[in-house]
Amino acid sequence: MRDLEETRLQYDYIEKAKEYVKSESEKIGRPLTYCVHTFGCQMNARDSEKLVGVLEQVGYVEGKDEHADFVIYNTCTVRENANNKVYGRLGYLSNYKKQNPVMKIALCGCMMQENAVVEKIKKSYRCVDLIFGTHNIYKFAELLCRMFESNSMIIDIWKDTDKIVEELPIKRKFSFKSGVNIMFGCNNFCSYCIVPYVRGRERSREPQDIIREIESLVQDGVSEIMLLGQNVNSYGKNLEQPVTFAELLREVNRIEGLKRIRFMTSHPKDLSDDLIDAIRDCDKVCHHMHLPLQSGSSRLLKIMNRHYDKEHYLDLVDKLREKVPDIAITTDIIVGFPGETEEDFAETMDVVRKVRYDSAFTFIYSKRTGTPAAAMEDQIPQDVVKRRFDELLALVQSISNEKAMELEGKTLPVLIEEQNVQDASLVTGRLDNNSVVHLPGTSDMIGKIYNVKLKECKGFYYLGEIVNE
Ligand code: 5AD
Ligand code: SF4
Repeated sequence: MRDLEETRLQYDYIEKAKEYVKSESEKIGRPLTYCVHTFGCQMNARDSEKLVGVLEQVGYVEGKDEHADFVIYNTCTVRENANNKVYGRLGYLSNYKKQNPVMKIALCGCMMQENAVVEKIKKSYRCVDLIFGTHNIYKFAELLCRMFESNSMIIDIWKDTDKIVEELPIKRKFSFKSGVNIMFGCNNFCSYCIVPYVRGRERSREPQDIIREIESLVQDGVSEIMLLGQNVNSYGKNLEQPVTFAELLREVNRIEGLKRIRFMTSHPKDLSDDLIDAIRDCDKVCHHMHLPLQSGSSRLLKIMNRHYDKEHYLDLVDKLREKVPDIAITTDIIVGFPGETEEDFAETMDVVRKVRYDSAFTFIYSKRTGTPAAAMEDQIPQDVVKRRFDELLALVQSISNEKAMELEGKTLPVLIEEQNVQDASLVTGRLDNNSVVHLPGTSDMIGKIYNVKLKECKGFYYLGEIVNE
């Protein structure tokens, strides 16, 4: 449910927080600095832009690093190693805090939605001033005020929400591209995945709110947007007036001045013919589909609760390539799911050979407490998982190298994203299929699309040159 009353309330808190920040910085004789560190996915990256939007409105300025006066970790919990990184860094932060009496520390994001995590922080990391979760991030200004008003740790975690609060401040990391949330949460409960427990039930934004946001982004110089959701293919099903993702794409494609549309992530079970047609028909929609496979074994896919099998997945890939021949297909694959046999793993390798992914993120299965898979017997020994993982990675990499080589010599449109970090005479951009291209150029080219000849493929990237027609 959309809540405009709440938006107004939060702007009142922004005014109040401004006073707190002003008086603190007067006390120390300089502006207060912030550092927001983001772990995890594009959703978290977008959430961090919302945090920064509020921080800058209330008077904080960007600090160089974690020595800032206010450090926020926006956490991820999809795999165990993401959690461990946060604990490790908190150790350092508590030392910095001893040297800086005005320093504050906040933790938010998916990891904070887990009870055991919050208990551990309460017990062992007393240096933390504020903990909040994924559902109440829109209340950040209000939480900031509470933090300034209190000397003890503030914890505000909600189990779930049906609220969507629009039109709060956002500060984009990039001037020319932006993520746009189209939905929040996930209803799929894949048996290994913690996301539905920490991001709550699926909620879609109203199409007119999404369109309005993109229109104003375009007016502000954005050329490329990435529509974000855990499962964009089920967008709009729970709206009062249901809309499909394909319909939304067609609407977004009509926005004048917008140049490129990307989206993430698609679930194979909900990938409709209608959506494939929309990708083919809409000139701004990039020819790139990220279609997580997870496993090639139909037996395991069933236990993973994925609602498709190997054959259905391969059919989808055929259909995509038939209708959009130059489409790049990328994926996520998990190795070492409980009970994964050599035969199951061979099925995954078989799908990789058949699909020939442009690139693939490969993950070692990580046991997440509270998910059905964590309680499954037959967890796979580490050495077996490692061998399978290495084998898969080698195959994935050799195929992506071959695929990348196929484009060498071609001339294709490149959206310029930034000045090259290592060599200032170069700029860096991306092809429609998301591959990186470096070419001679200047910073005024950022945000524009040029026809570039891909002179040399270097594996993960190309060296190119602008072609003048
Ligand atoms: N272990 C390993 N990888 C996981 N993913 C989700 N949960 C787990 C887990 N428990 C991967 C999936 C998903 C990607 C975002 O993270 O492949 O698509
Ligand atoms: Fe996790 Fe599955 Fe939802 Fe993706 S679709 S977030 S893998 S439960």
